[in-house]
Amino acid sequence: MLKIYDSQDFPGYLPKLNHLYDDLFSNGKGFRSRLVQIVANRLKLPEEQTSLLAQTIEFIHNASLLHDDLIDRSPLRRSKTTAWLKYSPEYAVLAGDYLLARVMVNLSRFGNLKLIQFTAEMISDLLEGEWIQDSLVRDYDIKLSQLDRVHNLKTGSLFKWCLQAPFLTKENYNNEVHELLKEMGTLLGLLFQRSDDLLDFDVRNFEGKIILGDLKSGYLNSFSVFLLEKASSEVGAQFVKCQSLEELKRTIGEKYFNERLFEFDQTNSKLIDLYNHLNDRLLALLAPEQIGLHEELMPLAKALYWRKAN
Ligand code: FPP
Ligand code: MG
Repeated sequence: MLKIYDSQDFPGYLPKLNHLYDDLFSNGKGFRSRLVQIVANRLKLPEEQTSLLAQTIEFIHNASLLHDDLIDRSPLRRSKTTAWLKYSPEYAVLAGDYLLARVMVNLSRFGNLKLIQFTAEMISDLLEGEWIQDSLVRDYDIKLSQLDRVHNLKTGSLFKWCLQAPFLTKENYNNEVHELLKEMGTLLGLLFQRSDDLLDFDVRNFEGKIILGDLKSGYLNSFSVFLLEKASSEVGAQFVKCQSLEELKRTIGEKYFNERLFEFDQTNSKLIDLYNHLNDRLLALLAPEQIGLHEELMPLAKALYWRKAN
């Protein structure tokens, strides 16, 4: 098991920052760093490099959550009081910025310019995604394709990085492999986000996330948009004002809700099939000592969407 967070890595003269990080890193699922590890182990990267990559992705992810929770005014993260509420908004912002700064210090020490550039582009995508998403708040006429673009930027960017970054530490890497991993990362991001959007409707909400948070803050997430695609504009107008799941199901009709959920799951199952198809194509391109990667990547899309890996 790789150590992602060690309080020793941060200055002892900043005790509040250390407390905040102790809270932040104690409960994460670490899915992204595990993904990095799967790829890095297959490429036989030295442990030091694998640790650097795993830490990089977790630092960026957690920095984005510190900021995201403040932007969303979320009271809870991983069942605990969010940093901006427990400490202060100022501390949450600074703690996020500091993680990003550490990422740049650590990566530049490693000295792989391609990796630094790739990471900076990922952070830039993440920001653009969040920015565009914010511009869609209270837009009740959005299309799934607009959300897909946001999700590719804000969620897919990290998954793509997890799959591609370990290959960037190698001198020679195959461009075709890179393109396939990029598409697979995009799909993982999309499936993860769509599954996360279902939590807002208490579907497979095994982690007990707050319900209707997106809707109440004026944001139509992917399942809201999918539900409203076939509903009348009158129902749509009532839907966006709903304050409870019971009221929402009464407004849209429980039978209709369940039918659309079934269709949403079917649509996303096709994306899982597509991911598996890309993974099969990847197999043909991997070097003999790397082919185990195909098997390890195989269950991920399904597990992410159906939330079985958690
Ligand atoms: C969670 O989404 C948030 C993200 C996936 C990305 C947030 C990105 C930023 C705030 C940009 C700043 C980035 C950095 C690197 C500082 P969500 O709100 O849909 O999910 P949630 O329900 O888990 O909060
Ligand atoms: Mg949020």
